[in-house]
Amino acid sequence: MSENTFLQDVLDGLNSNPKTLPAKYFYNDQGDLIFQQIMQLESYYLSRAEAEILSTYSGEIALKMKNDSWEIIELGAGDGSKTQTLLQSLLEQESDIIYRPVDISSAVLEQLKNRLEISLPGLRCEPIASDYFTLELKESDKRKRLFLFLGSNLGNYTSQSIITFFSLLNRLLKKGDQLILGLDLIKDPNRILEAYNDKEKVTSEFNFNLLKRINTELQSNFDLRLFQHWATYDPVLQEARSYLISTEERTYELMKGAYRISFQEWEAIHVETSKKYSTKQLAALAQKHGFEQTAQFQDKVKDFVDVLWTKL
Ligand code: AVI
Repeated sequence: MSENTFLQDVLDGLNSNPKTLPAKYFYNDQGDLIFQQIMQLESYYLSRAEAEILSTYSGEIALKMKNDSWEIIELGAGDGSKTQTLLQSLLEQESDIIYRPVDISSAVLEQLKNRLEISLPGLRCEPIASDYFTLELKESDKRKRLFLFLGSNLGNYTSQSIITFFSLLNRLLKKGDQLILGLDLIKDPNRILEAYNDKEKVTSEFNFNLLKRINTELQSNFDLRLFQHWATYDPVLQEARSYLISTEERTYELMKGAYRISFQEWEAIHVETSKKYSTKQLAALAQKHGFEQTAQFQDKVKDFVDVLWTKL
């Protein structure tokens, strides 16, 4: 990503009404570290629930894939820990698989490949450094494709990027290919709100890191002491939303004064939406985008779901 794209996205977002910033910019080195801390929080149940699902059902999923050769393409693989159990189950039953983690950063992919060489020797890992939305794959007539998009990542997408995401899949998947999507389920709103408003204030730090990043990378002067983190959950829209609110009327400068952004007292920047689903809505989403829901796997307390969809 060039500094120019980042600057343009920040200017577009902060000149909109209401103000907004794209959540994808949370994830610089520092943001990745804070997100790792979020995943360890007691209140952030999502990662634990999905790890439970994958360790419970990987064998079952691998069995469903037994008789074919597969190209497994993972969007947002991170450190690969989520997928490791599934890959291990596939290797144990000697399935013919190629694992292709996709990430914009070649450095992240290199680290992941090195890690997997140690933990899963024998795995054929061929990473692809690419933006998800411009992803190209070589034609493969022999192998079926399985896409993985875990960790409730789709929950951070706007409705427009969900449409773009499924048109990408429709371009890259043939009839009979598969998709596993990991998504957060609707539940007691108090628990959802707590997941994004932890008492340790790690999520707040995660959000503030976005302003820190703008200050450093876009030579800006946002005064972090004059912002407050605000998390909400709307049970009708089924969305957790996070904001950074300016507690005072102020004007800030970007690129050493080349651009100016003004805030009114208590004006908010919307920084993230995390959408929650019911299982019924997910079955409907599968149909809407040309898939059939083949299976769904939930953790014991039904916090989270991994759905297995087959392309029609
Ligand atoms: C990456 N994504 C699915 C997380 C979520 O739950 O929306 C990001 C996150 N934001 C605050 N806490 C976690």
